[in-house]
Amino acid sequence: MTMRELKQLTIKNLIKRFSEKEALNNFNLTVEKGEFVTFLGPSGCGKSTALNCIAGLLPITSGEICVNEECIDNGIISTPPEKRGFGMVFQNYALFPHLTVFKNVAFGLELKKTPKNEIQEKVNNVLKMVHLEGYENKFPSQMSGGEQQRVAIARCIVLEPTLLMLDEPLSNLDAKLRNDMRYELKTLHERLQVTSIYVTHDQQEALALSDRIVVMKKGHIQQVGTPEEIYSHPANLFVADFMGFRNIWEGKIEEFTENGAETKIVVNIGGSKLTSHTRFNGNSRSLKSALEETFKSKQAICTAIRPEDFLIGKGAINNLKCRADIVEYLGQISHVTGVLDNNNQADFRTSEKITSGVNLDLFIPPEKLLIFPKEGNPHV
Ligand SMILES: Nc1ncnc2c1ncn2[C@@H]1O[C@H](COP(=O)(O)OP(=O)(O)OP(=O)(O)O)[C@@H](O)[C@H]1O
Ligand SMILES: [Mg+2]
Repeated sequence: MTMRELKQLTIKNLIKRFSEKEALNNFNLTVEKGEFVTFLGPSGCGKSTALNCIAGLLPITSGEICVNEECIDNGIISTPPEKRGFGMVFQNYALFPHLTVFKNVAFGLELKKTPKNEIQEKVNNVLKMVHLEGYENKFPSQMSGGEQQRVAIARCIVLEPTLLMLDEPLSNLDAKLRNDMRYELKTLHERLQVTSIYVTHDQQEALALSDRIVVMKKGHIQQVGTPEEIYSHPANLFVADFMGFRNIWEGKIEEFTENGAETKIVVNIGGSKLTSHTRFNGNSRSLKSALEETFKSKQAICTAIRPEDFLIGKGAINNLKCRADIVEYLGQISHVTGVLDNNNQADFRTSEKITSGVNLDLFIPPEKLLIFPKEGNPHV
């Protein structure tokens, strides 16, 4: 029994303050039916606050939350959580310890006075879906963390929510189980197609599960995009750093030229000239104009390069000399931390055998070198 169909969830200019503290500022987002959207960001950036506002568990300070363009919350009129038809899964499972798995999952249906035979059928179906057939009479304390989290998910989806919200549901599990459950969640979403909002601070999890990712910092949205967009075209230094870019070196732009669809930017990093070739697309246009502005006003920029994007040897351009200081063996590859001849620290990964103390040549393919204004984003 679904409350009503959710075609679109819209959050407009949402602000949430806890007395003086502004936990969310000008949060704008539209989630379409069937989408899997993830809120990603470091601890304290406002992910849970955003989720709890949408759920109706926290009063909003101002702004509007709408379902199918109908307002469900504007801070004055607020639909109570149980009337929103949304489901929530928490990090700590929040199961009833004195109830069996069956009773835990049936609980919400019983509250709704669902007929007994219907409860039986629905609970059996949903337990099958999360691979917990045969666990009906166990108690939560007799189950592993992963199994308990599956009960929590079953308890939520048995009520057929129009929006499923999950707040760091895998963070209490060990690495192996987390991967298994990630796969289970992905399969479940593909099967049920239920509109979902997922909260995590784990970029791998966000990349693997999401249709779109919302990267947040200190209550401000930094970027909204597909996993590919966020991974390859971070909007600013904060997103780049969070998505695994390293080698943040400071310098100035010396040349800024359009080269067909590509923009060529030459930077000077402590005497080393490095060239970047970037294709700015629709979403990264504002970065392009910010960089052009930085060039004109001679403001500082920072580079960002993934450790795995360096090549060893001499290239046509972007050559650097490096002394390897620390070599961490990671199996297939090693992570090397070294010092460049321009005195910046280099972090790179290679499958070649490197010993610490050795001097080597490195180069960076120009399309792998990202440039960002050092300042420019007031929230970074
Ligand atoms: N009830 C509250 N009263 C006062 N401040 C709060 C309250 N709840 C959250 N905050 C503050 O709001 C900010 C956002 O908190 P929130 O719990 O949304 O972060 P989060 O992104 O979910 O972090 P985590 O990854 O640690 O769960 C934090 O600075 C937090 O201290
Ligand atoms: Mg949280």
